[in-house]
Amino acid sequence: MPYQNLLLNINESIAVVTINRPEKLNALNSKTIDELRNVFTEINKNENISVVILTGSGEKAFVAGADISELNKLDTISAKAFSENGQEVFNLIENLNKPVIAAVNGFALGGGCELALACHIRVASENARFGQPEVNLGIIPGYGGTQRLAGLINSGRAMEYILTGDMIDANEAFRIGLVNRVFPKEELIAKATEMANKIASKAGNAVRLALKAVNISGEVTTKEGQAYEASLFALCCGTEDFKEGTTAFLEKRKPVFKNK
Ligand code: COA
Repeated sequence: MPYQNLLLNINESIAVVTINRPEKLNALNSKTIDELRNVFTEINKNENISVVILTGSGEKAFVAGADISELNKLDTISAKAFSENGQEVFNLIENLNKPVIAAVNGFALGGGCELALACHIRVASENARFGQPEVNLGIIPGYGGTQRLAGLINSGRAMEYILTGDMIDANEAFRIGLVNRVFPKEELIAKATEMANKIASKAGNAVRLALKAVNISGEVTTKEGQAYEASLFALCCGTEDFKEGTTAFLEKRKPVFKNK
């Protein structure tokens, strides 16, 4: 499916989705949000894709937020639908049946920071800048940021960033656990691809079930989460890849996974 504001590049089992409105610093207008819904729905169904990398086009931005020219026209009724629509698309990404790595290559502000937060892993270039500057516009984050940021870093820090609108540079983002790794700008996509290939080389069912197990933490009690973990662990043990992985270890050879 052709996209106006996205690029989709599939190389072997790695898909790279690039938000492509560099002249507007990849700001998320409603067309781009619709296209994100479509591309991630397509990727979810595509069994040949194991891992997704999400990035922004151009030199400056991952995504500089929701499109402020559209925000400016919202009223209370349309704003609720606007927020719920974005939340739905970001939940689709979070609940995808394959890992999504955000390769944050510049500004990740407002909805851009929230988009990175909805991904499973975040890596950043040295010039990346994160922030939730919505208070400067008279609003609060509306694409899940109040919940996900507080969950990922701590609620005190999330509160500071959301109340002050201050930007966080890549080193600070690394220090507080907002991103996993920071790379020189020119190495970012290669490093993200290296990580994606490493994940793609593992037993696919184990990767998918691990995503589900980790995703549910924070949403249920520890007891419920552990019961779910035990069920998913048991499912893994019914796969051919489990037999192969454990047998290969005992035979002192590398496993050859068939994703079954
Ligand atoms: N929505 C709509 N347009 C945006 C945008 C957004 N969130 N962020 C940037 N743009 C547009 C600018 O209006 C400008 O368009 P123009 O050339 O037609 O005037 C273009 O992208 C380049 O941005 P500019 O502001 O000139 O770049 P800069 O390097 O001087 O500043 C930022 C970069 C990110 C600091 C600045 O663009 C900014 O503050 N953006 C808004 C961030 C924000 O509040 N996001 C949260 C929204 S909820």
